[in-house]
Amino acid sequence: MAEAFNELTLPAAKAERYAALAAEIAAVLDGEPNRTARMATVASMLAATFDAFFWTGFYVVDPDKERELVVGPYQGTLGCLRIAFGRGVCGAAAASGQTQLVPDVHAFPGHIACDGRSQSEVVVPVFDSAGALIAVLDVDSDQLGAFDEVDARWLEEIVRNTFAV
Ligand code: SME
Repeated sequence: MAEAFNELTLPAAKAERYAALAAEIAAVLDGEPNRTARMATVASMLAATFDAFFWTGFYVVDPDKERELVVGPYQGTLGCLRIAFGRGVCGAAAASGQTQLVPDVHAFPGHIACDGRSQSEVVVPVFDSAGALIAVLDVDSDQLGAFDEVDARWLEEIVRNTFAV
C-alpha cells in the first residue's frame, strides 16, 4: 500500500498532508460553533486522510460524572462507552493533560482493548479557550508504531485551532 508506506516513512510528506488537512478542517468549520459538529467533522476528515488510521474520535469529559470520559463523535468500529480518568491511554491523557504517544498498546499498562486489532495510538487532550479540558482526541492504528512526533504535534495543532478558539 504505497500511501501507508509514505505516511510512515516520509515525515515531510506527512507534515504536508497534515498542513493541508488543517486548512481544510478550518475552512469546513468556518462559522460553525456547535462542538459536536466540530468533533464529528474532525473525526471524519482525519479518518478519510490517512489509511493507517483505524479509529479516530473523541472521548468527552462527562459534566455529570466525576472525572469520567464518555464516547463522543467517532469513525471506526464500536468504541468503549466510558473511560475513567487515569484508565488506559485516553484516561492517562485526560488525567495528565499531556499527549500520549504509544507505539505498542500492548506495552502500555492498563490499555483498554476496545478492538483487538488496535496496535498503536496517539491521544491528545482537548482544551477550550479558557484552558479547561473538554475531551481527548483518540487516534488508533492497526499497525505497530504508526505514530510519531509529527502526528502528535499536528493533532495538537488541529485540536487547538478547532476547540480553543
Ligand atoms: N485505546 C483507548 C480506548 C479507546 S478505544 O481504543 C476506541 C485507550 O486505551 O485509552
